[in-house]
Amino acid sequence: MSETFGFLAVLLFIAANAYYPAKEIAKQYRPWTKEMTRFFKQYLHLHAALNLVAFLFVIIHAHFAEPDEKNLILQITMVLTLWLTIAGVMMYYQVSLGLKKKHLRIMHTQQVVFALWLVFIIVGHSLG
Ligand code: HEM
Repeated sequence: MSETFGFLAVLLFIAANAYYPAKEIAKQYRPWTKEMTRFFKQYLHLHAALNLVAFLFVIIHAHFAEPDEKNLILQITMVLTLWLTIAGVMMYYQVSLGLKKKHLRIMHTQQVVFALWLVFIIVGHSLG
């Protein structure tokens, strides 16, 4: 159960977050055509939806994992995932709760947080 949901979550996270490198690459080919703009608009909806489903899968994955597999790094990773998901939902649905748009964007799209999130997932799982 835990393994299946973990595997599905990875697949969804990859499909959802390829959005970021794809957009970074595409930025070098500006100005964009109408099709390109439309593509990234639609991909953003997919980014949001797939990340939300992946988060649900990660919760199931973690819940059913063996107690000795729940190390500190993976617990921090869970908090980071929750952070990214909440900030993403706030950006997407424009629920600022008094925060400036600029700050909300920083909270969700910081390269450092994204890189840390990836490193923690890999390191946490390699510890067993
Ligand atoms: C762990 C889950 C997530 C990760 C790792 C993640 C990662 C990222 C990254 C790295 C960016 C920056 C893209 C760029 O600069 O072009 C981004 C943008 C964005 N994400 Fe997420 N995200 C996650 C979940 C979500 C969720 C659940 C939502 C909404 C329901 C969401 C909504 C957004 C929005 C609105 C943007 C701004 C898009 C733009 O202006 O191009 N994200 N995300």
